[in-house]
Amino acid sequence: MVDLLLGLQWGDEGKGKIVDVLTKNYDIIARFQGGPNAGHTLIFDGNKHVLHTIPSGIFHDKAINIVGNGVVIDPVIFKKELEDLKKYTIDFKSKLLISRKAHLILPTHRLLDAASEISKGKAKIGSTLKGIGPTYMDKTGRNGMRVGDLELENWKDKYNALAKKHLKMLTFFDVDIQFNLKELEEEFCKAVDVLKQLTFIDSEEYLFNAMQNNKTILAEGAQGSLLDIDFGTYPFVTSSNTTAAGACTGLGVPPNKIGEVFGIFKAYTTRVGSGPFPTELFDEDGKAMAKIGHEFGATTGRARRCGWLDLVALKYTVQVNGVTQLNMMKGDVLSGFDTLKVCTSYTYKGKEITHLPYNIEPENVSVNYTEFKGWEADLTQMESAIQLPENLITYIEFIEQELQIPIKIVSVGPDRKQTIFR
Ligand code: IMP
Repeated sequence: MVDLLLGLQWGDEGKGKIVDVLTKNYDIIARFQGGPNAGHTLIFDGNKHVLHTIPSGIFHDKAINIVGNGVVIDPVIFKKELEDLKKYTIDFKSKLLISRKAHLILPTHRLLDAASEISKGKAKIGSTLKGIGPTYMDKTGRNGMRVGDLELENWKDKYNALAKKHLKMLTFFDVDIQFNLKELEEEFCKAVDVLKQLTFIDSEEYLFNAMQNNKTILAEGAQGSLLDIDFGTYPFVTSSNTTAAGACTGLGVPPNKIGEVFGIFKAYTTRVGSGPFPTELFDEDGKAMAKIGHEFGATTGRARRCGWLDLVALKYTVQVNGVTQLNMMKGDVLSGFDTLKVCTSYTYKGKEITHLPYNIEPENVSVNYTEFKGWEADLTQMESAIQLPENLITYIEFIEQELQIPIKIVSVGPDRKQTIFR
């Protein structure tokens, strides 16, 4: 069986930390979608690491880490990630396996991403500009270059043909983008040489055999369900299926082999980039969340927008993913608020509703809150569920009741150790 771990909001829920905490229970950790737009932060033994493409199980002795076919890889960023991990003497050749069917992000994909965003003006998506959208467009348009192509002698011909096409496409956008193609290509080729030193596999076959041999597998999602290309707040989304079904297509795992679905959510809500966000706060409470929660993007450094927990949206993503257990992150950030609010319904076209409608822009929905008493206690040193303040327990039990799913982990700080199991 394959267990899944997914973010239920707009990303940045803390998936990296939980994968790292859970890795000891698994033989294999597999990423199934997204690419270097992700930034999974792990903190342990006083060190902080941000991973972008490499699965979050890489720091454990035994786990095999797989980058699945649904992921898009930028060799340049990948090389940098490997370099940043040098001090750990990890045997990448045996511990980090890459699907031949994963698509490659070319330097020109990044240029197209930038041109597309600039040309959108105020309507821009707020993309991380890592070339994610254009790469998935080439994948579905059947023009893409895959990791397996790098094993062909003529891979550079394929590269040149695609890059040439991208340069033509760039002229379509009426924007001025400065770049030095020669430099970008040299950097790309060097990075490809590094990538080629790793082990390429047919990951669906590898995982099939692993399942036959009763290996335990955890599929690690990136971004969050509200950024899913189909079910997210389109068009302000990423270009992959971040929801549970994405693990099937992004790894080649049959739906009937999915076991537990761990849904990760923050005790409040954040969003980075553009798009609607019904519970967004523009007041002191929002500023306090951002400050205490260090809400700055791990990949772009951009300030994250903050707001109260939205149970209408969370119920929707729990349903779409078939979540079997919840993990609540950053509970410690809410210490010190007099009153906490949780959105339990929307008013949509004058009517109270509890499902996520097609349009959630401010002109279409307003939010209705249920209020809770806050707590003062600092949670960051707590080690067991019985230490948690009563008002926090009330908050947790309300969420469990509304979603009808147990919250099994409460995270009270970024470190691996600051994790309370219930
Ligand atoms: P892209 O995937 O880089 O094109 O970005 C599309 C949207 O998804 C933008 O709003 C980004 O800010 C957001 N996004 C992409 N990756 C992440 C992530 O890992 N965490 C949070 N937001 C993300």
